[in-house]
Amino acid sequence: SILIVDFGSQVTQLIARRVREAGVYSEIAPFNAADAAFDRLKPRGIILSGGPASVTAEGSPRAPQRFFEAGIPILGICYGQQVMCEQLGGKVVGGQGEGEFGRAFIDIEGQSALFDGLWGAGGRHQVWMSHGDKVATLPEGFAPVAVSEGAPYAVTSDEARRFFGIQFHPEVVHTPDGGKLIANFVRHVCGLAGDWTMAEFRSAKIAEIREQVGDKRVICGLSGGVDSAVAAVLIHEAIGDQLTCVFVNHGLMRSGEAEQVVSLFRNSYNIPLVHVDAEALFLGGLAGVTDPEAKRKFIGKTFIDVFDEEARKIGGADFLAQGTLYPDVIESVSFTGGPSVTIKSHHNVGGLPERMNMKLVEPLRELFKDEVRDLGRELGLPDAFVGRHPFPGPGLAIRIPGEVTKERCDILRKADAIYLEEIRNAGLYDAIWQAFAVLLPVKTVGVMGDGRTYDSVCALRAVTSTDGMTADIYPFDAAFLSRVATRIVNEVQGINRVTYDYTSKPPGTIEWE
Ligand code: XMP
Repeated sequence: SILIVDFGSQVTQLIARRVREAGVYSEIAPFNAADAAFDRLKPRGIILSGGPASVTAEGSPRAPQRFFEAGIPILGICYGQQVMCEQLGGKVVGGQGEGEFGRAFIDIEGQSALFDGLWGAGGRHQVWMSHGDKVATLPEGFAPVAVSEGAPYAVTSDEARRFFGIQFHPEVVHTPDGGKLIANFVRHVCGLAGDWTMAEFRSAKIAEIREQVGDKRVICGLSGGVDSAVAAVLIHEAIGDQLTCVFVNHGLMRSGEAEQVVSLFRNSYNIPLVHVDAEALFLGGLAGVTDPEAKRKFIGKTFIDVFDEEARKIGGADFLAQGTLYPDVIESVSFTGGPSVTIKSHHNVGGLPERMNMKLVEPLRELFKDEVRDLGRELGLPDAFVGRHPFPGPGLAIRIPGEVTKERCDILRKADAIYLEEIRNAGLYDAIWQAFAVLLPVKTVGVMGDGRTYDSVCALRAVTSTDGMTADIYPFDAAFLSRVATRIVNEVQGINRVTYDYTSKPPGTIEWE
């Protein structure tokens, strides 16, 4: 296995993902818990992640020094490269506003086992950079192997000790050969076999769930989406009827969604399911609330309240199961005390009130969406269900900027259904990561027949993505968009104007709130 030492980068889990894609098992440990993880795992290689700190700052994180004496290969990425060089006697200097951010090119100047079969001397390759500091003096035994415009040591290595430092980020998709580079490290350099699969993930998780839960009872919150459904099916496979699913219908679902979920669980899987109609509770609490974080926190908290109550009704449960994915964790990570910055409080993480008296079972916590889909297929869930676009826990509430009311939810549901129907008819559903309508708190003037209208604006969003962390807009042709706009304005009372959102992520997020 590989031990990934986390220095707090936003993309550390992408490293784990690339290692999984290479067919190798890895675990991530925060830098201050890496010692224990090392002793437990006995890894064949170590990857040091990037991070937001500066090696030059007093008290900034370090890797356990003994890792460099363990005789196993080490790959340092960005901060990981800098910290390795510093700890081995080299020198890092702070960039005075002269870092590299975004696309960059490196020129290969030397040989490295890291590049075997991939890159050769003289080659020029696109990479993705994000650094202010850089290595200025190499430790003994190290030699430069690649340079970029802003980093004389874009790649350096001590081939004898098998230590590799790279300034760019091989784990992100904007470094086109990055996945292969990481695969080279874990397989070629560390000599790991590359035979780990999703089937093994399934059986490992099942064992882990049994171990964690014992003979206790688990209650699982179904949201209607793929994630919680996959989590529930996996947990059911592990512990059978110790699991009860609770589907809280918060009234913020898309059209027809609640019925589908209930039928899938009750009829196809025979998983015990309690269906709670809590629309009035949620919409009542959302009255007058317009701040996005306030909405998210209220919905998250109310979810937990309802679970608590249901758990009591069914005679108590010790564990709460959730389909939390990695992007939910990372983007809410300051809640768990980690070093990254909170962008949004995702309801399945950020809304958990301290007083909640159940422990969490989150078997998908390290996976990305497409991996969850693979796992879902592995578990036999229908393709049409597994392939559904992601839907956020807080539902339509975060697609209605401003106040959320039943009336506005109904308007949005109609527009959204038309949009998705047209996308399906055009055969585009699977090419799009996520498509949805947003109902804006803005009214504009229009003319229909001979009359003046004064109604709401609807925005359409569609993005492509592989993990939800970054996204690009889907480039519909104009005829498609105007067909959808015409249908929505004609068929949905309350909307008289339709716009298309052209913002990528970053700088936008996928959801509007
Ligand atoms: P953003 O809007 O942060 O969304 O770019 C990234 C992905 O996460 C989904 N999302 C959520 N999923 N609970 C969830 O389970 C949430 O609170 C939540 N908020 C956003 C979003 O739909 C997109 O797929």
